[in-house]
Amino acid sequence: MAPDKKTAVITGAAGGIGKAIVKRFTENGYRVVAGDADAAGLTGLSDTFNRGTQVLWEKPGDLRSKEYCEALVDHAVEATGRIDVLVNNAGIITRGNVVETSDDDWFRTLDINLTAIFYTCRRAVTHMKDHGGGAIVNISSCWGLYPGPGHAAYCTSKAAVATFSKCLGRDHAADGIRVNAVCPNEVNTPMIRTGFIRRGFNPDTAIAELNKSVPIGRIAEPEDIADVVRFLASDAARYVAGTAIEVNGAKPVY
Ligand SMILES: NC(=O)c1ccc[n+]([C@@H]2O[C@H](COP(=O)([O-])OP(=O)(O)OC[C@H]3O[C@@H](n4cnc5c(N)ncnc54)[C@H](O)[C@@H]3O)[C@@H](O)[C@H]2O)c1
Repeated sequence: MAPDKKTAVITGAAGGIGKAIVKRFTENGYRVVAGDADAAGLTGLSDTFNRGTQVLWEKPGDLRSKEYCEALVDHAVEATGRIDVLVNNAGIITRGNVVETSDDDWFRTLDINLTAIFYTCRRAVTHMKDHGGGAIVNISSCWGLYPGPGHAAYCTSKAAVATFSKCLGRDHAADGIRVNAVCPNEVNTPMIRTGFIRRGFNPDTAIAELNKSVPIGRIAEPEDIADVVRFLASDAARYVAGTAIEVNGAKPVY
């Protein structure tokens, strides 16, 4: 196994933004350890990106399991001797104001969107700090910085992801580890499309309407976010650490 190739662990790899991130990293020569709960999605992914060489390990599992979170990082280290990049991209969106939010909604959202990131980051930082550093990119949301309406659990979890990323960025910059958060506004992925379908809208029509609300003229495509993630993981971002980058086409949160 070529020792000079870098290794990236990417969660939510079978999702809309996740697939685009895997594509960006594999085409830039990384080996990828891909995590997601969607086993079929992961298989499709590794078929596309060359199982065993580019996508090194596609391991389905639930990020609510601490063992699964740690196994993703451990596999990168055991199989390749390194983890250069960790991208915590998996997430769920939970609708509801506080009265509409059940205990299960609350804990499921925080477990997947926040606690899983705590587990993967702790494991990755432990390795990176003794092995020359690395880069961590956590996907937060504009709604974590400026809460949108009717999503109390989601916005709270994403605010915590942004702050957690800044804390780690500050604590571990001296270890050569750059930690940043990416905060998208709306992105054209299954997350947003299934939300429209659930509420009885045609997703194409709804997205065409939404495009009109964005100063840049359209909501983001997954590649728009993947390019920022790839930049933050690269040496071109060598002085960017402990921050949360908004990727929003100039659209404010109303
Ligand atoms: N789409 C948007 O408009 C938007 C906006 C801002 C932020 N984000 C964030 O971007 C990230 C990616 O979102 P997306 O739009 O690609 O969503 P998506 O639904 O297309 O993908 C999310 C992926 O996470 C996986 N996942 C969910 N729960 C899991 C669990 N318990 N264990 C393992 N895997 C699990 C899903 O299987 C899915 O493949 C999320 O963190 C999301 O909150 C999305």
